[in-house]
Amino acid sequence: MAKIKLKEGTIFNGDVLKVLSEKISPYTADLIFTSPPYNIGKDYGVYKDNLGFDTFFGWMREVLKGVSEKLKGLGFMVLNIPESVTVKGMKIPFAFEIQKILERFGELEYYGKIIWKKGVFSRAFVTEVDMKITSPPLYETFEVLLVYRKKPSSRNRALKCRQIEYSEFLTYANPVWEVTPDITRRYYHPAPFPLELPQRVIRHFTVKGETVLDPFMGIGTTLLAALIEGRKFIGIELNPVYVEHFLIDYETFKKHMTLKKSNLTLHHI
Ligand SMILES: C[S@@+](CC[C@H](N)C(=O)[O-])C[C@H]1O[C@@H](n2cnc3c(N)ncnc32)[C@H](O)[C@@H]1O
Repeated sequence: MAKIKLKEGTIFNGDVLKVLSEKISPYTADLIFTSPPYNIGKDYGVYKDNLGFDTFFGWMREVLKGVSEKLKGLGFMVLNIPESVTVKGMKIPFAFEIQKILERFGELEYYGKIIWKKGVFSRAFVTEVDMKITSPPLYETFEVLLVYRKKPSSRNRALKCRQIEYSEFLTYANPVWEVTPDITRRYYHPAPFPLELPQRVIRHFTVKGETVLDPFMGIGTTLLAALIEGRKFIGIELNPVYVEHFLIDYETFKKHMTLKKSNLTLHHI
């Protein structure tokens, strides 16, 4: 396991369960934002994304338990996941299964759900055009962001006022978010989310100086958003190649941020 210390945060290149149990203290994060593997056979290089679903959800339970222990009281955990996945013709209600796990923890309370409307219809959704009335297709042109909040504990976040304008706050408070996926970065990773997604989550759920933890950081989109938004970050990733890509982006962003302070997106670099 490698630990990389940067000015604004720390990256761990290693297995999520090992890092969570050995390297990160409880009550460290104000926000957890992540997108876990979906167990649909994506090629992440060093990780097998095709476990049996019982094994997969058992592992997710361990990860979510470990990660929620790192959250301060009143901190938020926001999970970007699919509503459902279809594997070998079988539809799995993914978000429902994750909610069943989280509801049993006790120290987290359900806060709400954001629909991430991807604003695109891809032919990739069309696996079979079935005209029979008994099986009309429902294409998932959206994903969800499950929002849970940690109950008050001995170590709560400091209460501070939000730092965004009322109009921006209203956009985020309406929980259907239209954010276009960023296909340009799929060259480096099979499933990065667009920078705007973590930027919105970070701006809505935290204030400057707070700490954001992404236990499945991939190429570090959440961490770049945290950097831009003046938050601290902690990231965990198994694949060293993704960590290297993040470190290159990190340096580029830092350089551009000193030149141009506002409205930075990945398209500006
Ligand atoms: C859906 S991707 C996250 C993508 C990320 N949001 C981004 O924008 O780049 C999930 C990530 O989890 C990583 N991963 C899978 N198993 C892991 C494990 N046991 N420990 C740490 N990371 C793991 C994969 O390598 C993959 O990069």
